[in-house]
Amino acid sequence: MKVLGIETSCDESGIALYDSENGLLADALYSQIEMHTEYGGVVPELASRDHIQRVLPLITQVLDKAGLKRSDIDAIAYTKGPGLIGALMVGASIGRSMAWALGIPAVGVHHMEGHLLAPMLEENPPEFPFLALLVSGGHTQLVRVDGIGQYQLLGESLDDAAGEAFDKVASMLNLGYPGGPKISVLAEKGTEGRFKFPRPMCDRPGVDFSFSGLKTFTLNTVAACKKEGKFDDQDRADIALAFEEAVVSTLGFKCRRALRETGLKQLVIAGGVSANKRLRAQLEVMVKKEGGSLRYARPEFCTDNGAMIAYAGCQRLLAGQTEELTVAPQPRWNMEELEAI
Ligand code: KG4
Ligand code: ZN
Repeated sequence: MKVLGIETSCDESGIALYDSENGLLADALYSQIEMHTEYGGVVPELASRDHIQRVLPLITQVLDKAGLKRSDIDAIAYTKGPGLIGALMVGASIGRSMAWALGIPAVGVHHMEGHLLAPMLEENPPEFPFLALLVSGGHTQLVRVDGIGQYQLLGESLDDAAGEAFDKVASMLNLGYPGGPKISVLAEKGTEGRFKFPRPMCDRPGVDFSFSGLKTFTLNTVAACKKEGKFDDQDRADIALAFEEAVVSTLGFKCRRALRETGLKQLVIAGGVSANKRLRAQLEVMVKKEGGSLRYARPEFCTDNGAMIAYAGCQRLLAGQTEELTVAPQPRWNMEELEAI
């Protein structure tokens, strides 16, 4: 079954073709980052308008790459939520109407389920059951995964998501948007041990997270540097390193606790922040010590993309799930509500 995936939940138009027999056939991505940079973050209305212009040409591009025609597509999967309502409406309307015109089924995919399943596109994919750490711009969650649609939320951020904290701290350091990759690059020039940032919630039981205090701590550190009359490139690099280390070791601490409490041995990390090199390296060491294994997707499939939507949609379509003609995006959507397949 050849499934066209359409991702438009935020600031990336991602299109891909996944074949249940031959794997990923082609994919393409258009990132709106440059357009939003001027505003320091995503402007929802601009995002929706841009998706309208990009999606159809990207579909043509992906079909050309795969050497296929529209009539070769067997089904369409689009991101139904969570995300920005206007942006979701674009993908849902195009996906749903194209499926109707071609007389093929369509299915609305949960964006976070897409992220969660992205490592399945890699060689040596994870096997159920596993523990998943979902770390994106909007979510920080630890989930027990027993199968597709069998999700138990073990813990989550009580305030900012990890990616959101990266973005806000990047803005304090004048790095621009999106902050995660920029902080990572700057942190490489940081001095180990100059600043020690707190590891939030690690002194409490459970596997919930909180990143807003860390954000305030960073702001106070920046203010203290400025008060001393200097806030130079080295100060910024040292702060970036201390912040990144604090987030990474907090995530690692909670993952280890969740592995021990559930008895699970495989850890899957997904979402934009899972592209972070320091996070991958530290978790690799921790998981090895616990006698387990770590899985993640290639960096371009950690951030938003069409391949993860095509893959997740394909699994649901193969299980017989389709949608009615109604287009009903869900900007807020709890992953635990999904049907098991
Ligand atoms: O999954 P994603 O592309 O979109 C959402 O669903 O939110 O995640 C985007 C987030 C942004 O906050 C971005 O700063 C962060 O992922 N991110 C990173 C890295 N690459 C992207 N954070 C830390 N290190 C990275 N290398
Ligand atoms: Zn995402």
